[in-house]
Amino acid sequence: MGFPMQRMRRLRRTDALRRMVRETRLTIDDLILPLFVVHGKGIKREIDTLPGNYHLSIDKLSEEIKEVRSLGIPAVLLFGLPEHKDCRAGESYAADGIVQRAVRTIKEIAPELVVATDVCLCEYTEHGHCGIIRNGYLDNDASLELIAKTALSHAKAGADILAPAAMLDGQIKCMRSVLDKHNYGNTAIMSYAAKFASGLYDPFFRNGTGSVVAFGDKRTHQMDYGNGDEALREVALDIEEGADIVMVKPGMTYLDIVYRTKERFAMPVAVYNVSGEFAMLKAAAGAGVIDEEKALSEAMASFKRAGADLIITYAAKILASKLTR
Ligand code: PBG
Ligand code: ZN
Repeated sequence: MGFPMQRMRRLRRTDALRRMVRETRLTIDDLILPLFVVHGKGIKREIDTLPGNYHLSIDKLSEEIKEVRSLGIPAVLLFGLPEHKDCRAGESYAADGIVQRAVRTIKEIAPELVVATDVCLCEYTEHGHCGIIRNGYLDNDASLELIAKTALSHAKAGADILAPAAMLDGQIKCMRSVLDKHNYGNTAIMSYAAKFASGLYDPFFRNGTGSVVAFGDKRTHQMDYGNGDEALREVALDIEEGADIVMVKPGMTYLDIVYRTKERFAMPVAVYNVSGEFAMLKAAAGAGVIDEEKALSEAMASFKRAGADLIITYAAKILASKLTR
């Protein structure tokens, strides 16, 4: 039964009809806003490639959190810029490290806000790699211990969700067992399970965290972008090791991975709409090439349609201001 009985355009005729048959929609509860915390006082420095996103000192973070809360955004993901970098990433697991202090501050002023923390060493190592380097190569097993220490220190500070980003083998299992041993059985893990070695992170480590690698690149531990089956094996391992939420990263260029992950595992799936994706869109909108709001909404719809439950995005505030609760 085709034309003229079937007219696909019938339900596209008016805005109300289109809204009624829309299959997926973005809600405020889908959004996680990344935040960058720095040492010092009175600092609110815009990251030039990520308009509307800032380096915030703890006092300015408090103001930002009030805005996040009033917008109704349910969660933030914290990144820290340390005072000192060294070869063992000392500040990443210091009780008074920048992220640990930020978590405590947020929990004081907005205890209901879900606080997730990026658990990785690359912002804290002098060479910018995600762990300990031995003979020019990232030493997986030696780095695990420091990742677990970092995770525990974030949990002690009060983080709700820990997001391990290093793509080290065995890191979820290692974190989970240390957390459980210290009575943090309720602290959740959102693993960067399928994280690709992507050219779309540049604005993040160049302007966001200033953690450009001093030598080599991250292709020895992040995934090759030609691989889809391997991404599913990564996700399977992280679930087996105890991940509560699995993440695919980046977003727009990996929608097939989001789709396959959701179909295969039926787990909560997060997608990271990374710095380069946001920067490209902002730059194009700024140049008058595309309409920012339309392009953003379409990108978010693609994540939801592919099966993502959660979207980590630098556009969370822009989107939230347009969503009704
Ligand atoms: C690692 C980490 C990175 C991002 C999030 N966590 C950088 C990397 O792996 O090189 C990238 C996020 C983005 O580009 O928005 N701690
Ligand atoms: Zn890292």
